[in-house]
Amino acid sequence: MSDNIDFKIRKVIKSLKSSPIRNVANSVIGKKNIIPLYFGETDIATPAFISKAMKTALDDGHTFYSANQGISELVETISKYSSSLHKKKINSSRIMVTSAGMNALMIAAEALVNPKDKIICITPVWPNFMRCIEIMGGNVIEIPLLHSKKENIWKLNLKEIKKYIKDAKAIYINTPNNPTGWVMNSQEQSEILELCRKEKTWIISDEVYERIIYDRKVAPSFLDISKDDDLLIVVNSFSKSWAMTGWRLGWMIVPEGLISIFEKLNEFNVASPSSPAQHAGVVAINEGEKFIEKMIHDLKISRDIALNNLNNFSRVIFPYSQAAFYAYFKIKDISDSEKFCFDTLEKTGVGLAPGTSFGKGGNKWIRICYAKSPDLLNKAFEKLKPMLS
Ligand SMILES: Cc1ncc(COP(=O)(O)O)c(C=O)c1O
Repeated sequence: MSDNIDFKIRKVIKSLKSSPIRNVANSVIGKKNIIPLYFGETDIATPAFISKAMKTALDDGHTFYSANQGISELVETISKYSSSLHKKKINSSRIMVTSAGMNALMIAAEALVNPKDKIICITPVWPNFMRCIEIMGGNVIEIPLLHSKKENIWKLNLKEIKKYIKDAKAIYINTPNNPTGWVMNSQEQSEILELCRKEKTWIISDEVYERIIYDRKVAPSFLDISKDDDLLIVVNSFSKSWAMTGWRLGWMIVPEGLISIFEKLNEFNVASPSSPAQHAGVVAINEGEKFIEKMIHDLKISRDIALNNLNNFSRVIFPYSQAAFYAYFKIKDISDSEKFCFDTLEKTGVGLAPGTSFGKGGNKWIRICYAKSPDLLNKAFEKLKPMLS
């Protein structure tokens, strides 16, 4: 790009941070024998019964725009699914289907973030919502999780949140969390909800990993404890629970009475999500429980392989990963995680994600996605030995 021409691109867009994960991955595009542990997805394809439903939807002529809210069958299905998971009625009038979780997050930012608004983000966290805030001209206030050495898990820093919440328009929380595997408990959720009610602060709860949890069916959700008109947006997705990352299908649950605001934004983002994909989404939810059960069983095996292997390296420390499918670990004596990932990729062919992707303070931290077969994971750790020992 010529430096002499002023293309008048918005300053915030020009200075938007590119993803360090992508930078690492892009360096080996087209290369063979890479073990990619950097991206957040399983290595299994979408189950055949869901793909078949998509084919049937196409054959049946479901190839037109849908309502902005989504097809009524899917909205109703999500309402029933969500109500049964969270043991309370989630009205279909609060649900909008989106082109995946990412699109729901962007729509949430468009609806709420004015230029200069302060939005609290609990970090480390998958960075995309922080970038959505910046695209809208808002300011990100990062409040890092604390490493509780006693229990060896991540903990919410409530004291720090209380300091900033008064001036914040919203707080963004992703639990179960990417990259740490942290799960917010119901007590913490109640405290945050009470605080936000008092200060009239929005909660944007990113719950795309709610089913990727190993000791119960579903993670604690703000839906469990909130009222229909709380200032709460819950974001969810088909990507992780039903192995549908490439489909781009998700949903958001908004306060009662506000759906028309979000429908308007869906219109001006994508008009409506893919119609045939929405028909397949109905089948994914209605017939997908066995698939989720098997996936969680397999992920548990992979998690144990990953955590046991990491435990063997004395340079490596990590708070226990309670959920989602990531291990997030610190290598005590490194100072540039991005450089470490580039070096590791070059020397071993194993792709890792640098901690700098997930907020400030990630220079010694690395994330791997362990949602891979035991064979591949064992092979990856064999190759990683010289880098981590
Ligand atoms: C925390 C979190 N939220 C949202 C998403 C978006 O997922 P999708 O856009 O595939 O639904 C991801 C994807 O990795 C994620 O990790």
